[in-house]
Amino acid sequence: MRLKSLKLINFRNYEDIQIEFSKGINIFIGANGVGKTNILEGIYVLSLTKSNRFGTDMDLIKMDTDNATVEGEVLYDDYSKWYQVAISKLGKKVYINKSQIKKISEYISNFCVTTFLPNDIDIIKGSPSIRRNVLNIQIGELYNNYLKILNEYNSLLKMRNEYLKRLNINSMADYKYLDVINEKMLDYSVKLYSFRFSYLQDINKILPMIFKKLSGISDLKIDYINNLGITEFNEEKIREILLNKWKRNLSKELMQGMTLYGLHRDDLMFSLKGHDAKIYASEGQQRLIVIAYKIAELLVFKKIKGEYPVLLLDDVFSEIDIKKRNNIIKYFNDEMQVIITTTDIEEIDENLVKNARIFKVKNGIIKGGHRNGRKGTR
Ligand SMILES: Nc1ncnc2c1ncn2[C@@H]1O[C@H](COP(=O)(O)OP(=O)(O)OP(=O)(O)O)[C@@H](O)[C@H]1O
Ligand SMILES: [Mg+2]
Repeated sequence: MRLKSLKLINFRNYEDIQIEFSKGINIFIGANGVGKTNILEGIYVLSLTKSNRFGTDMDLIKMDTDNATVEGEVLYDDYSKWYQVAISKLGKKVYINKSQIKKISEYISNFCVTTFLPNDIDIIKGSPSIRRNVLNIQIGELYNNYLKILNEYNSLLKMRNEYLKRLNINSMADYKYLDVINEKMLDYSVKLYSFRFSYLQDINKILPMIFKKLSGISDLKIDYINNLGITEFNEEKIREILLNKWKRNLSKELMQGMTLYGLHRDDLMFSLKGHDAKIYASEGQQRLIVIAYKIAELLVFKKIKGEYPVLLLDDVFSEIDIKKRNNIIKYFNDEMQVIITTTDIEEIDENLVKNARIFKVKNGIIKGGHRNGRKGTR
C-alpha cells in the first residue's frame, strides 16, 4: 500500500495543505520547529485515528480554530481508498470513501504505518502500558478482528471490576453473575492470547537475525511477561490457570475492586543475552533494538498481508553511526514507501536521496515535491 496524497486542514501548524507523495522515498527537510514531525503525525492519525505523541485530540487542532481534518488517498494493488479523520471539540469522526465508520476498530487495519520515531525508544524505556499498546496496535493492523475482541474484553473487564466492587460492599450479591463474566472473559482471553503468542513467535523468528545484522550482537528476543506463568499458547492451560488465579485471589480482588490477573496486566521484555534490555542495554543499543524490532514488524506485516505498510522515519538517522545507518537502509526496498524527515539532507544516504522526492518545509508551508491542489500521477 502507498499513500498517494495527504490533506491537512487546521492540523497543528498547517492551515490547509495538500501533499502528493511519490512511491519510494519521500524526504521532508526543514529547520527545527517548522512542522516536519507534524506531517508524519498527520499520516499517523490518518492510519490510527490518534496521535503517537502525548496529549489529547484537541492538541491536534490548529490554535484559534475549531476543527482539524486529515484526509488522504491510499493506493493498493488494484484499487484506492479515501480516508478521513475529522476532529472537533465535540469529538472525532472517521470515514472511508466518504462513509462514516462508527467503530474505530473497523477503521484501523486498512491503512497501516510502521514508525521509527524518536520517542519509540519508550517501547523499551517506558511503562508496560506503552508496550501493550504497541502490541495491540501491531496485531490490530495485522488481523482486523483483534481490536474488536480486545474492546469486548475491555468492556467485560470494566464490568467485572464494577461487580467486584459491588460484591465487596454487598455480600448478598449474586456470585453466580461473577462466574458468568469469568467464563466470557476466559473465552476472549484465549482468543487474544492466541493472537499475541502467534505474533511474537513470528517476530522472534527473525528478530535475532535482524539485530545481529545491525549490531553484530546475537541473542535478542522478546519475552512475553504474564502473571499466569505461561510461555506458549495452550488453551486448556490458560483457562485452568486463569480461573484458578481468580478463585484463589478473590478476596484480594474484592478488596481492591480490580481484576488483578489477565492479559490487561501483561508486558513484553526485550531480552538481550538473557538480560532485560531496559536495564542492561546501552542507549545506542536500545535504539538499535527498537529499530530491529520495527524492521521485524515490517517483514512480519509483509509476510502476513502480502504488502508493506508505509514507513515513517522522524529524524532517526542523526543519532546512528554511518555503518549502522547503511545496515538499516539495506532493509529498504523498491516495494516500500518511506517518508523521512530531517534537518540536514547530509545525514541521509546519498543513494536514498538520489531517487527521492524532496520537500522543503518552512513554517507551515511546503515547497518542492508539493503540488498544491493538483492531482499527481500514480
Ligand atoms: N495545535 C497547534 N496549533 C498551531 N501550531 C502548533 C500546534 N501544535 C504544534 N504547533 C507548532 O508546530 C511546530 C512544531 O512542529 P514540528 O514538531 O512538526 O516541528 P519539526 O519540524 O519536527 O521540528 P524539529 O526539527 O525540532 O523536530 C511548533 O512551532 C509548534 O508551535
Ligand atoms: Mg520533529
